[in-house]
Amino acid sequence: MGCSCQYKQNTKGVNMPIAASISKRISKPHLEITGNYGLSGEIKVSGAKNSALVLMAASLLTADQIRLSNVPHLTDIEGMSQILLSLGVKINNESSGLCLQANDLHHLELSYELVHGLRASFFCIGPLLARLGKAKIPLPGGCEIGARPVAEHIKGLKALGAYVSVENGVVTASVPGIQKRLKGADVILDCPSVGATETILMAAVLAEGKSSIENAAQEPEVQDLAKLLNSMGANISGAGGPKITIEGVQRLYGCKHTVIPDRIEAGTFLIAGAITRSTLRVRPVIPEHLSSLLQKLRDSGCKIHIDGDAIEINPIEVKAVDITTQPFPGFPTDLQAPFMALMTTSIGTSVITEKIYENRMQHVAELQRMGACIRLQGNTAIIEGVPALSAAPVSGGDLRSTAAMVLASLAATGTSTVEGLHHLDRGYSAMEERLNVAGANIIRY
Ligand code: EPZ
Repeated sequence: MGCSCQYKQNTKGVNMPIAASISKRISKPHLEITGNYGLSGEIKVSGAKNSALVLMAASLLTADQIRLSNVPHLTDIEGMSQILLSLGVKINNESSGLCLQANDLHHLELSYELVHGLRASFFCIGPLLARLGKAKIPLPGGCEIGARPVAEHIKGLKALGAYVSVENGVVTASVPGIQKRLKGADVILDCPSVGATETILMAAVLAEGKSSIENAAQEPEVQDLAKLLNSMGANISGAGGPKITIEGVQRLYGCKHTVIPDRIEAGTFLIAGAITRSTLRVRPVIPEHLSSLLQKLRDSGCKIHIDGDAIEINPIEVKAVDITTQPFPGFPTDLQAPFMALMTTSIGTSVITEKIYENRMQHVAELQRMGACIRLQGNTAIIEGVPALSAAPVSGGDLRSTAAMVLASLAATGTSTVEGLHHLDRGYSAMEERLNVAGANIIRY
């Protein structure tokens, strides 16, 4: 009787078993990835997670309807929806995306079980203070990659006139005075924190008078938030630069807004093309949101062709290049792990330094299990390229390191299993389905 399993030819013309018995031994949800399949065609990029989350929180600033399109289907988005629903926000899933309306807010505090594990929940404190003059939110706490403090957020809210206390892991904030209206102020951030910039923006838009944020984060997601707020009737200028000014207004109105494409997802898929030495297109994308990654891929020997809102990568060769993560427009920390996966089979030795988070090198040990030659000195990894990785059972410790393990498995010889899907699904919707459409051989168990 013929073999019951199916086969699929890899790029070397070898028939490889699509399903293997490895997975029968692993109980946790995981991906089974058989490497050495080339990719081709075009991969569709979703809306940006790190924009959609803060845009959803901004809906608290008005009683009118906010319609967001191009919202990605992710567990983090579901988590943020649950948080907003618990405050009394009405949310409808429409064909075009999400319709949110905060015209009947009956709660001003969030429960710990809803907040725990979703740092973006802290984005609610600014709008609640600005709209209602009160908020009570558990500290989001640290996560796998670092302590994730919120001191800069709190510093900004206090500058705007709020009383803020932190007791027993809960942040309680209120606005004094009869009107309960924040007062415009000038804030200088100690570090260009994305979240702190967004929190202060959302608090200042309804404050009395003028505010400014110096040493502001310049990330595209901050720019997308400012664009939404201005569409709601705010008066913000300078977003995307180091100094943002805000003229407070009395109230904000409903509007429609399309979430920008996810630059980190687009970059991850471009690296998938590079690591499998495949010509691959990603779309839609805003090329200037990925300038630092594109430059490093070009420096490494990949041809990059920009065609409107599409980017095509053709990895002629992949030489070792050094990266240091920086705030935008520098190399994004969220692409550090995926890029390290690429460097493990590059020609030469590369040095990767993580400057944003204190604990974002967990993927090093997992890549070493696949035969990568990496030396770790604090937050600096020295990677000596090897001819090929070998398949292994691996897992990711956070969203981006799990994505990095998927990329490494695509290029490894043999069949790997990747655990940590609860991390992966936070930031990449149906990642394996989109990779399989492009020619990969991945099965989710
Ligand atoms: C946002 O986190 C993103 N998350 C992160 O993406 C991203 O890595 C990060 O920005 C940097 O680009 C969302 O937007 C939901 P930060 P955020 O405040 O706002 C320090 C992913 O994988 N800091 O810019 O929390 C902090 O310790 C996630 O999608 C303070 O010191 O980032 C860190 O070292 C991971 N004090 C650095 O700034 C503060 O008050 C960057 O943090 C706040 C931050």
